[in-house]
Amino acid sequence: NAIMNIHDFTKKKLAGEKISVVTCYDHAFARLVARTSIDAILVGDSLGNVVQGLPNTLAVNVDDMIYHARAVRRGAPQAFIVVDMPFMSYQTSVEKALENAGRIIKETGADAVKLEGGKAILPQVRALVEAGIPVMGHLGFTPQSLLAFGGYKVQGKGDAAAETLLSDAVALEKAGAFAVVLEMVPAAVAEKVSKACTLATIGIGAGTATDGQVLVITDLLGMDPDFAPRFVRKYANLSSDILSALENYAAEVRDVRFPSEKETFH
Ligand code: KIV
Ligand code: NA
Repeated sequence: NAIMNIHDFTKKKLAGEKISVVTCYDHAFARLVARTSIDAILVGDSLGNVVQGLPNTLAVNVDDMIYHARAVRRGAPQAFIVVDMPFMSYQTSVEKALENAGRIIKETGADAVKLEGGKAILPQVRALVEAGIPVMGHLGFTPQSLLAFGGYKVQGKGDAAAETLLSDAVALEKAGAFAVVLEMVPAAVAEKVSKACTLATIGIGAGTATDGQVLVITDLLGMDPDFAPRFVRKYANLSSDILSALENYAAEVRDVRFPSEKETFH
């Protein structure tokens, strides 16, 4: 497996090679992802929803991100790993952003951090890049602004909003970001941004014109039968596989069909 670096994102974009990214939160899944041709792992603050059972990402903290990112790194020693900076770990000041991003990089062995937002966080992006910490941006529907958006709504609709999104992406690129996630934006807007920028765009609910795609691993593996947003494709139906395995186990324990002679010590 080729080891990615930040420049490979731009190289792939310019070569027209699509970039595949998947989220990952633990060692077991990281080991599996590391055996595939997936280009990069995102330790997303979606771990709030996926792992912690929280209603959104707002309560996730830096220590949570570090705990999970360390486990992912151990499972995928060569992978390009991006770690989300959680809500309020970078918005309040440049110093705080530097301190927290520094902890994430030093304590996890991650390759980059991801921050949500455009012009409002440019000083933070510049400072991190100057300190040698690669930054991935995140525009469109940014889950840490869920309360401000008033729900899970497509962003960048209409000429004014599309213009703002484009200028935010350009500003992030100028500030030194190497890539940007575009979440839940109209495909035409994502296409325009992707063409106007040299930084790689990684889409989720943003159509096919982005330079890559990212999905939450539990979504693409079909681990939650009750969760099916429009932009997710389920490449497996693990929830039913897991349920039947667990039911088989429970039944065999009840019937004393497990363990067998071969599974027993004497
Ligand atoms: O936290 C996350 O999983 C993300 C991706 C959906 C882009 O930020
Ligand atoms: Na995130």
